[in-house]
Amino acid sequence: MSGKRQFRIWRGDESGGDLQDYMVEVNEGEVVLDVIHRLQATDAPDLACRWNCKAGKCGSCSMEINGKPRLGCMTRMSTFGDDETVTVTPLRTFPVIRDLVTDVSFNYEKARETPAFAPPADVAPGDYRMQQVDVERSQEFRKCIECFLCQTVCHVIRDHEENKQAFSGPRYFIRAAELDMHPLDARTDRKEYAQAEQGLGFCNITKCCTEVCPEHIKITDNGIIPMKERVVDRRYDPLVWLGSKIFRRGETPQTSVTTARQGSANPSGGTRGGVHSHAGGSHDSRAEAQAQSGVNWHREVPHPTAPAVDDRGKLPLTELTFDRAAAPSPFGDDVTFPLPPEHLNFAHPEQDNKH
Ligand code: SF4
Ligand code: SF4
Ligand code: FES
Repeated sequence: MSGKRQFRIWRGDESGGDLQDYMVEVNEGEVVLDVIHRLQATDAPDLACRWNCKAGKCGSCSMEINGKPRLGCMTRMSTFGDDETVTVTPLRTFPVIRDLVTDVSFNYEKARETPAFAPPADVAPGDYRMQQVDVERSQEFRKCIECFLCQTVCHVIRDHEENKQAFSGPRYFIRAAELDMHPLDARTDRKEYAQAEQGLGFCNITKCCTEVCPEHIKITDNGIIPMKERVVDRRYDPLVWLGSKIFRRGETPQTSVTTARQGSANPSGGTRGGVHSHAGGSHDSRAEAQAQSGVNWHREVPHPTAPAVDDRGKLPLTELTFDRAAAPSPFGDDVTFPLPPEHLNFAHPEQDNKH
């Protein structure tokens, strides 16, 4: 494993650049960022590379390694063959500042445009309470380290600078989804906003963003697809429309997908004893009791990912009128991403005009 290895690294700035070859010492157990640091200490002292934690937590060392967006500090050299050339390039979707450092301010602009958490008007800060199931439901999205690997891989903006204005990208779709499922968030138009202002409709669920996420957040399955489904539900389903007119948010009865499928309907109020819940899939009495008595960080609750159908394979009325926590992948679990280009059905809006 130890010995000299061939590296090709993109060197340049906004005016241009190219790949340069280096032979560099690699030791057992090292990651790509170690090798870049060694190059900075030896052959390439002016090689620019952004990093901070070297622990996969700050999201700074994002780069494209052999064409795949990855964290330099989390990519072990042992993943490459002994005689394989390791090619390192900057994130392709963002403008290069120098060498491996890109200007990711696009993402901060999109973060600023995303409406922040809207606190409930009638509850004072410090009196906010929510059920543990709701905390856990959006915990997945809060693991995001803002590495922007999902943003750089998304084909909607990767090769289409012109889409950037209208498209916030997967990182901000999961932010919208997180706030949409937050029981204390006073805004009720998160999904409509995502569709109208954040460009949710551009996404054709290729799942490339999920594929590269170093935090293994199921961006597409648990964030984007449920949001898309709810946008469609709200717009086109007359029952949902009727339900939204009759019930106000947080007042509607909720039914567990799991319990409904077992034939034991378990309606419960959305607000109980001052603890709010939008959780759709785990209304067991033990969880309720724990939520009332305080937080137990080690409790495991069932993840609400079961298909939302009843014994006859039909969507029950309660599922049509309530937000679901997640949806199964429309591709099945045995599909490998990214899909080959011939399987992608994305058509750029201007594609037809070119013919
Ligand atoms: S699923 Fe594909 S199109 Fe949608 S946000 Fe992720 S990478 Fe982009
Ligand atoms: S969602 Fe994943 S890939 Fe995207 S910025 Fe967050 S941690 Fe990185
Ligand atoms: S250096 Fe912090 S994630 Fe790699």
